[in-house]
Amino acid sequence: METVLITGAAGGIGGRMRQLLKGVYPRLILSDRETPKNLTNEEEFIAADLADMAAMTNLLQGVDGVLHLGGQAMEASWDIIHQANIVGCHNLFEAARINGTRRVVFASSNHAIGFYPRHARIGVDHKVRPDSLYGVSKAFGEAVGSYYADNFGLGVMAIRIGNIDDHPVDERRLSIWISPRDLTQLVRIGLEHPDLVYEVVWGISDNARSWWDNEAARRLGYRPQDKAEDHRDHALAAETGRAPNSVGDYYQGGDICAEGYSGRPIPEES
Ligand SMILES: NC(=O)c1ccc[n+]([C@@H]2O[C@H](COP(=O)([O-])OP(=O)(O)OC[C@H]3O[C@@H](n4cnc5c(N)ncnc54)[C@H](O)[C@@H]3O)[C@@H](O)[C@H]2O)c1
Repeated sequence: METVLITGAAGGIGGRMRQLLKGVYPRLILSDRETPKNLTNEEEFIAADLADMAAMTNLLQGVDGVLHLGGQAMEASWDIIHQANIVGCHNLFEAARINGTRRVVFASSNHAIGFYPRHARIGVDHKVRPDSLYGVSKAFGEAVGSYYADNFGLGVMAIRIGNIDDHPVDERRLSIWISPRDLTQLVRIGLEHPDLVYEVVWGISDNARSWWDNEAARRLGYRPQDKAEDHRDHALAAETGRAPNSVGDYYQGGDICAEGYSGRPIPEES
């Protein structure tokens, strides 16, 4: 990898990855529709809207690998999701194809499977069960990645990120947390592993309470350094005084599942 592009570079994860991937590749290009805060003179930034195909085609010229973080990162109206995560995501992959880009690492989300109950243990071969339009768009991004890998030979890794933070902030996050350095390790596997065709992996640290089998990541060499359980007391303390939510507490996706929920009644024994 000579030239790596980070989309969504002005965002929360983008800000971390700007630091953690600095100096790893000879050229790191940052892009977003917003200018990142604290941009330094050594950093290369190109503003572009994912929904603008011509801008994306220009942006990806000479790019070997992409970390695609850009897009709508929570539930929103269909119009917003559609522009950023459907049109925008397709544009990104299509611009990669046009420019002969070799790798795309796509930031997928746990919300692509958020309507699995918390007692379920799932792997990446389980069918998607999105818990929101946002989750639907992430399942779409995975499907586009799979298509571009099989049909055009692009190498693609979709990382279903649980939740990135310095430490897990509540009980649910004890199951789904990933530390910044563990996510960096996964991203580098996605960009650099010589045999990658198309893979879906869980973006989680070494979490004792995980709901997800991360064998695919392990097979590719992922060895997480951090454990959510090391922060258990802090995370559980955050639950004090929190009002229970029968829907959000039942499903893996958490509170987003409860927004406008009129699905099946939650089983009593839960
Ligand atoms: N933060 C997490 O724990 C988490 C968990 C699961 C998945 N993800 C995914 O990781 C990615 C990054 O998440 P984040 O927390 O940094 O989100 P964020 O909202 O902080 O950053 C997203 C960035 O994308 C940019 N963006 C939005 N629409 C755009 C468009 N049309 N064109 C160009 N840029 C656009 C925004 O300006 C923003 O800077 C997202 O794709 C998100 O869905 C994050």
